Amino acid sequence: MGGCVVAYIVVGVLAALGSVLKGTEGARAFFVFGDSLVDNGNNNYLATTARADSPPYGIDFPTRRPTGRFSNGFNIPDFISRELGAESTLPYLSPELNGERLLVGANFASAGIGILNDTGIQFVNIIRIFRQLQYFQQYQQRVSALIGAGEAQRLVNEALVLITLGGNDFVNNYYLVPFSARSRQFALPDYVKYLISEYKKILRRLYDLGARRVLVTGTGPLGCVPAELAMRSRNGECSAELQRAASLFNPQLVQMISQLNSEIGSDVFIGANTQQMNNDFINNPRRYVACCGQGPYNGLGLCTVASNLCPNRDVYAFWDPFHPSEKANGLIVQQIMSGNADYMHPMNLSTALALDMAKASSLNH
Ligand SMILES: *[C@@H]1O[C@H](CO)[C@@H](O)[C@H](O)[C@H]1NC(C)=O
Ligand SMILES: *[C@@H]1O[C@H](CO)[C@@H](O)[C@H](O)[C@H]1NC(C)=O
Repeated sequence: MGGCVVAYIVVGVLAALGSVLKGTEGARAFFVFGDSLVDNGNNNYLATTARADSPPYGIDFPTRRPTGRFSNGFNIPDFISRELGAESTLPYLSPELNGERLLVGANFASAGIGILNDTGIQFVNIIRIFRQLQYFQQYQQRVSALIGAGEAQRLVNEALVLITLGGNDFVNNYYLVPFSARSRQFALPDYVKYLISEYKKILRRLYDLGARRVLVTGTGPLGCVPAELAMRSRNGECSAELQRAASLFNPQLVQMISQLNSEIGSDVFIGANTQQMNNDFINNPRRYVACCGQGPYNGLGLCTVASNLCPNRDVYAFWDPFHPSEKANGLIVQQIMSGNADYMHPMNLSTALALDMAKASSLNH
């Protein structure tokens, strides 16, 4: 009990110290890997159909214009950048990402990709996770040229990393068509095991490339997204099969993360239970409907200028048939920051940031 109070006070002091340091030394760098939940515009530069660069995407963004984010406004990385006291990271493919701006970090994510190379093949030209990690190496060479190898390494070691993968391995692979190649190859539980073992290699590789604080999100409630309701639901119930996929994947992801942490001997990886988070917000049935789309639940086809568009985006959990609204993204990040053990393993992001701040200041002084 006494120990808890002391820890609480220490965290409070560190948080205060953190805001002082932010002002003087700048925020830590932030790197983002993954799929459309976290892509902030890389696909704008690619010949692919997986894109969000036309209206009404971005309608609530400060510029009121599409950016490539799959949201009406900010996405999850934007809200995390804000928590770090930093500007949003630029897409790695943006020509504006050079010079000092490289020191803020970079977003390597690409809509449509998954853990597996054969996920999202219908989108043709997207940046698969192996390529995203190669770009991360290339980024480090560019930063080394700017500030020297030692400082570049420090910047990467002290950075926060976010990686979001897995949803597309179900939606845009295993369940993309009936009798898909992967569903003929694997029963669902075996497919999930395979995904987790491949994901572990990817996280290992991130560690080998210098990442030392990595936030890993699971999949959302795959069976409840408006697209799945439109295709599979008779009475508004979530798709049992896709919910089963998510409920197999997410706990095994948490297990794999704690295994990896114990192999490394440090809590480098933090798991966020995003399935649980989304469920809390969309428990109200009207929230199953997408703000932008057409057909049942506004869940069919793409969100375009010709689609239905809701007037009050803040009461919708889903912006389009697959992606959370800005409002939901903000709530998810609140949970990531301050969620309890039901949501965050082995700790929430506020705690992790405070620990890292303490470590950095003891090393620097
Ligand atoms: C995915 O592709 C990369 C690059 O071609 C390759 O190195 C990797 O082994 C592949 N992964 C799997 C699981 O096949
Ligand atoms: C984060 O997690 C810790 C430990 O579980 C908890 O005490 C705290 O209330 C959570 N929220 C914040 C903002 O630290």
